[in-house]
Amino acid sequence: MVTVAEDFNIRHNNTFAMDVTCRRWVEYTSESDVWQFVDELSAGRAKCIGEGSNLLFTGDYTGSLLHSRIMGMDVEMDGRDMLITAGSGMHFDDLVAHTAAANRSGLENLTDIPGQVGAAAVQNIGAYGVEAKDVIESVRCIDTHTRRVTVLPAADCAYGYRESLFKNEPNRFVVVAVTFRLSGSAVPRIDYGNLRERLGDTAATPQAVRDAVREIRAEKLPPLPEVGSAGSFFKNPVVAEEEFIRIQNLALQEWGEDTRVPHYMLPDSMVKIPAAWLIERCGWKGKQLGNAGVWHKQPLILVNLGGASPDDIVELENRVISSVSERFGIHLSPEVEHIA
Ligand code: EPU
Repeated sequence: MVTVAEDFNIRHNNTFAMDVTCRRWVEYTSESDVWQFVDELSAGRAKCIGEGSNLLFTGDYTGSLLHSRIMGMDVEMDGRDMLITAGSGMHFDDLVAHTAAANRSGLENLTDIPGQVGAAAVQNIGAYGVEAKDVIESVRCIDTHTRRVTVLPAADCAYGYRESLFKNEPNRFVVVAVTFRLSGSAVPRIDYGNLRERLGDTAATPQAVRDAVREIRAEKLPPLPEVGSAGSFFKNPVVAEEEFIRIQNLALQEWGEDTRVPHYMLPDSMVKIPAAWLIERCGWKGKQLGNAGVWHKQPLILVNLGGASPDDIVELENRVISSVSERFGIHLSPEVEHIA
């Protein structure tokens, strides 16, 4: 079933709470509904959005926004592995709640991430050392180029850090369902940050890890919908080791010999530096510009403090990027997708 609203205000359909409109807001409940939008999508006059939790609308959208309400969940066993197929419109955290309650490990680190199942596969969401791609078996979608239904194994989805085939070829695929493989031999992953410490003596069951992640997130992230945001606004930059050493030396000169730049080593001598640290050292933590702000508990997140316009957010974004670039010579890239 398809429902359509014309000239629709999407303030409540994007977590940044940008007060903008779209020409048409379209909701669909089944795979077969999607065929009627294929031409519009191919022509770039329509876009699929989930809960709008990783988007910044920079103004009114002149096309159609297509919102999946394909629900349902199917569970089957493959030996000891559980295969769960969920509709793209399902709220992702409902799926996590289900698997944790079933004592199945794999998704619990992704607790409380806003958004839908389909968007999770597009965005390759990640938190606390786990990315969606680690548990995705395949993605069922409609390919608007070939005009066929296709089931892409995760290996064919070009997954990387917040990257995928679906992001590389915008508007080509409409995700209708995602299958996750929760291995019977999976053990909870608790080595990221203070997750192990937070669990203390509690056994690391999927439910206990879910509860711990929930607590940690609640302490750091702005509460939705009271404070509008789109989660991490910037990606954590990845630099070559020489570049990291340059930044470490700069930090020693600037802030004294005890200063250690937090970092994570990646393959091929690459180093990931938390953008939150760079932004904090530029003095932006908790700062406000108009009605936009840098979240005081986690400076990687830009927030709408109430009535912020897209211009307010973009102005703050540009100021943060310039500061980090001037001070550290690193260019921050937004993680949030901008939609004009
Ligand atoms: N940090 C600071 N100052 C702060 C806060 C953090 O310097 O005020 C530094 C610390 O060194 C800390 C490091 O930043 O150790 C990393 O912080 P955190 O573990 O919270 O992770 P993050 O890099 O800020 C990433 C994801 C989040 C995800 C968390 C937890 C990206 C862009 N963001 O954030 O994802 O929840 O890890 O795994 O990779 C999102 O994508 O929207 C999102 C919220």
